[in-house]
Amino acid sequence: AGTVIVAIDGPSGTGKSSTSKAVAAQLGLSYLDTGAQYRAITWWMVTNGIDLTDPGAIAAAAGKPEIVSGTDPAAPTITVDGTDVAGPIRTQEVTSKVSAVSAVPDVRTRITELQRSIALAAEKGIVVEGRDIGTTVLPDADLKIFLTASPEARAARRSGELKGADVNATREALIKRDAADSSRKTSPLAKAGDAVEVDTTELSLQQVIECVVTLVEEKR
Ligand code: C5P
Repeated sequence: AGTVIVAIDGPSGTGKSSTSKAVAAQLGLSYLDTGAQYRAITWWMVTNGIDLTDPGAIAAAAGKPEIVSGTDPAAPTITVDGTDVAGPIRTQEVTSKVSAVSAVPDVRTRITELQRSIALAAEKGIVVEGRDIGTTVLPDADLKIFLTASPEARAARRSGELKGADVNATREALIKRDAADSSRKTSPLAKAGDAVEVDTTELSLQQVIECVVTLVEEKR
């Protein structure tokens, strides 16, 4: 019993979202998709014509949109100034621009504070997925998981999600985004020293979910 905080990090296409949602649902925990928050702030900046080649302009706008995340794993929601943006944040335009926005320190400070307040408010505990949750956002998490998979497996999963997308183009875009996320100065994608690494290349989603559920149950 008690609350349990689970941090799940890793690059795109490792099954982070599917795993995190299923684990949270099975264990009765809340769920937070932090990538959706970075996508939401990026969507707002694109919509409002902010110059995304100018980190100063991004920083100046970072505090403007109000981002609200719903944490029910069965029906997670994301709104910007009251508008449901669950669909628009998944476009290729937002996906290709999010790394430039998420690299700006003022953006990270703001979104990190939001994430911590949501995690603290979760009464039964929460599964938080992202890139820097175990290292920066929730360094005292009860359990930290770092999901990996081969670039081929990740690209194949992503093109499966984006129906009809070209596997090679998806693979290139994915590698580019991971490189940007891993090399930025402020809180890059990284495995925490005390994280459990799970290589999902040869595992089914069900196997990954079972593995993580077992690890959480050992902590409760
Ligand atoms: O997980 P998802 O692919 O939706 O994340 C979108 C982007 O948000 C990542 O490529 C990264 O730039 C940013 N992100 C981040 N830190 C997190 C989660 C996501 O910088 N904790």
